Parts: sequence; structure tokens; C-alpha cells
Amino acid sequence: MQPKTKHLALGAAFGLAILVLILLLVVVWVAYSGTYNIAATQGHQPLVRWTLMTTMKNSVADRAEAITTPSMNDEMVTAGATDYKSMCQHCHGGPGVRQSEWARGMLPEPPHLTDTISEWEPREVFWLAKHGIRMSGMPAFGPTHSDDEIWNITAFVMRLPGMTEDEYASFETGSSTDHGH
Ligand code: HEC
Repeated sequence: MQPKTKHLALGAAFGLAILVLILLLVVVWVAYSGTYNIAATQGHQPLVRWTLMTTMKNSVADRAEAITTPSMNDEMVTAGATDYKSMCQHCHGGPGVRQSEWARGMLPEPPHLTDTISEWEPREVFWLAKHGIRMSGMPAFGPTHSDDEIWNITAFVMRLPGMTEDEYASFETGSSTDHGH
């Protein structure tokens, strides 16, 4: 290396080290100062929201890619309906059923799955129900439920778009923890 290029390389490395140090100091300052508002009553800044949403979508798509989706029949849908009503409805509602009041105070607010689920593949819904979403309030059901049970719920969730209120109401609740109707 020529002495001049060596100087330039050293200078660039030094500049980069200073930049990393400043960034670290900013992170530490944000964490310790209390300036950052974590209230659920105030939405994220647009850039933060975009980063979180995009990271979440791509993370799920990437991890769900290797999952093989079983063929889903009516029996699975019926079995999944009971679990959906007792474990998901408070937060995600259903045809003719709104989320619980407390779920509407969450940030992010749990989406009304009947409207949003068509954006997701069944294997992604399975992955989401099994693993949950960290720091968002979306629980992981994998530690407490078998894959078969989670596929049943997935089969039911995929049927939600276009399901009538009567049809939704006709599925059995099967649990005393249900807050619907
Ligand atoms: C305590 C509330 C809560 C419960 C119970 C809950 N979820 Fe969620 N769920 C959330 C929240 C909050 C999000 C949004 C997370 C985000 O956008 O980062 C979410 C997101 C999702 C998504 C992604 C949808 C989208 O459009 O972004 C799916 C699919 C999902 N949940 C399925 C389920 C299923 C299936 C169950 C029941 C087995 C369930 N959830 C139970 C709170 C909940």
C-alpha cells in the first residue's frame, strides 16, 4: 500500500469508529433519559412504524417459507372455530363481533382478522399463531398447543373473509372464557 492510501484508509476507519461511538451514545441517551414516549395512546412515528411493520412482514414470510401446508377440511374448520372463539376473538373479533374494549386500547391494535387475513398465506398464519409477535401483545400458542390444533385454528381463520355473521355465530364456543355477543 502507498503511504498516501494508507493514510486515507486509517482516516476512514477512524471516522467510522467515531460515527459508531456517536450512534451508541445516542442509543444509551435515549434509553436513560426517558425522552422516548412509550405510551400506547400515541401511535409510532411514521419511520418507526414503517420499520416495525416491514420487519414483521418479512420476518414472518421468511420463517414460514419452509412450512408445508396440509390440506384443510371442514372438520378442521369446525374444531378450529371453538379455539378461535375462546383464544383469539377477544383481540381479533369476528364477523359481527368486535374486539374486546381492552383490545382496542392496545398498540398496535389487534387487527380485525376478517378484513386483513387475505394478505397472509395459511403457513404464515400458522407461524404467527405458533410463535406470536414479540413486544406487540400477539401471544405464542405453540408452547401450549399442538401443531394439529394450530392448523385447525388456521383453517378456520382462512375461512373468515366472506363468512356471514350467522355462520360465525353457529360455530360452538365451547369455553366459559368467551366474551363475545
Ligand atoms: C392479547 C391479544 C391477542 C390475542 C389473544 C391474539 N392476538 Fe393475534 N395479534 C395481536 C396483535 C396486537 C397483533 C398485531 C401485531 C402487529 O401488528 O405487530 C396480532 C396479529 C395477528 C396476526 C397478523 C395479522 C395482521 O394482519 O397483521 C394474525 C394472523 C394473528 N394475530 C392471529 C391470531 C390467532 C390465530 C390468535 C388465536 C389463536 C390470536 N392472534 C390471538 C393480539 C392478539
